[in-house]
Amino acid sequence: MLSQVIQDAINEQINNELSSSYSYLAMSTYCERQNFMGCARWLRIQSQEEYGHGLRLLDFLIARDGTVKLKAVSEPAVQFKSIAAVFEQALLQEQQVSKQIDSLYELALKEKAFAALVQLQWFITEQVEEEKTAREIVAKFHLVRDDPAPLLDLDRELGGRMVEAATAATKQE
Ligand code: FEO
Repeated sequence: MLSQVIQDAINEQINNELSSSYSYLAMSTYCERQNFMGCARWLRIQSQEEYGHGLRLLDFLIARDGTVKLKAVSEPAVQFKSIAAVFEQALLQEQQVSKQIDSLYELALKEKAFAALVQLQWFITEQVEEEKTAREIVAKFHLVRDDPAPLLDLDRELGGRMVEAATAATKQE
């Protein structure tokens, strides 16, 4: 049985992941309104991934006989200075989530919540990948700046993102 302090922290992280999902959805909507359909698609898929992360933790809590407490999700930013600013915000968001996961891991270690540690290792690996991807996209936007042709190429490239099987399936393994 998970301690109350770990259950509370996992519930908090479920909220963080769902907030992240909501934030990506707002970013996607902004891009779509600017007619950057590729960016919009990439961000919509990322929103689904974050929702999946929330569900992964929720399923884990249930599997460990914990109590799920779904809290209010905060209202995301809907206005941005530019498409590049959207992805800069995405990178900041991922860096923040990495810190949250690290803190949760540290707590699980202190509480000797071994099953939670195993579960959280997946998140640590995932965050390394997500930060790397976001950093690369930000770098590309900085390279192309406001040059229309490469900007449209970049939008097309981002629009090629495929939905991962784990995201497509609602239930996480
Ligand atoms: Fe689930 Fe990208 O944080």
